[in-house]
Amino acid sequence: MKETLRLAFIGSGTMAEAMIRIAIKAEVAVPQRIVASGPREERGQELHTRYGVATCTDNRQALTVDGGDVDVIVLSVKPQVMPTVLNELRGAIPPQALILSIVAGVNTKTIAQGLAHGAIVRAMPNTPAQIGQGMTVWMATSAVSEQQRDQARCIFQAMGEECYVEDEAQLDMATAVSGTGPTYVFLMMEALTDAAVHLGFSRRVAVQLVTQTVLGSVLFARQSGRHLAELRNMVTSPGGTSAEAIYQLDKGGLRTVLSKAVWAAYQKSVRLGAVVNGAASISASPPDENHRGEEERP
Ligand SMILES: NC(=O)c1ccc[n+]([C@@H]2O[C@H](COP(=O)([O-])OP(=O)(O)OC[C@H]3O[C@@H](n4cnc5c(N)ncnc54)[C@H](OP(=O)(O)O)[C@@H]3O)[C@@H](O)[C@H]2O)c1
Repeated sequence: MKETLRLAFIGSGTMAEAMIRIAIKAEVAVPQRIVASGPREERGQELHTRYGVATCTDNRQALTVDGGDVDVIVLSVKPQVMPTVLNELRGAIPPQALILSIVAGVNTKTIAQGLAHGAIVRAMPNTPAQIGQGMTVWMATSAVSEQQRDQARCIFQAMGEECYVEDEAQLDMATAVSGTGPTYVFLMMEALTDAAVHLGFSRRVAVQLVTQTVLGSVLFARQSGRHLAELRNMVTSPGGTSAEAIYQLDKGGLRTVLSKAVWAAYQKSVRLGAVVNGAASISASPPDENHRGEEERP
């Protein structure tokens, strides 16, 4: 499979580049069997120079590479662009191809209807995939063969950890937790670094203190297997500095703010998809109120 897999990327932005880099590094595919499609020729040139992959500006052209039909077609465009892309590709998908969509919010029903093609994997990766430390949550439609599942799993494992879910609603939930997750962590690290600078540390030292503290805490939590509250209690001596800090964090509503942020991201994911999912169901079938209700259920 490693030597023969042909991969197409429809949309060659940040996530596509991360996946291309990791697919080549992990030998999931060879550069001459990868093709990246996007509207800007200069972006294609950039990717060709960096990775040696084929590029094009016509999405349909990306369905063949190195003299053969592609095996996996990664949809890596923004949700708003999906209706255009689905229209362009409809009727041209090689029958044996697997569609692998990482597009936030757009559901498999919409993609299947839009492309008239059943074998679809929907996935939500995140940016640490760039260094093989990503978290990808994914599901597959019933038309996806065992071999295609293995191909998808192989790609996700090269990107880091993967978690298969049966319920598609969990893809929007994962978008808010792990897909958007690096944002919460980076923002928290940035705020901690600024606080350390405010205390008087140089920025270089502040960055080192914060980065290693976060990294060490994550590894410690993983290795110990203990509940996070237990680990936190271990650092919180009575009347000590942690207790004082936690009092302020609780007073400032950190938990509530985080919970609200995740909920807002979840709702945004559903809303972004609903525009496309709604448009697809309007053109393909009468509006289905129950289906829309499903999208809003966490
Ligand atoms: N970034 C993340 O952390 C993350 C994580 C998980 C999932 N995702 C999902 O991954 C998808 C891509 O995200 P991204 O961050 O990679 O976005 P991005 O960097 O904006 O990439 C999207 C790419 O699609 C291209 N494009 C625009 N119109 C197109 C068309 N008609 N046909 C083909 N390509 C077209 C864009 O080209 P131009 O730049 O020339 O417009 C751009 O290169 C999104 O749906 C997002 O929800 C992102």
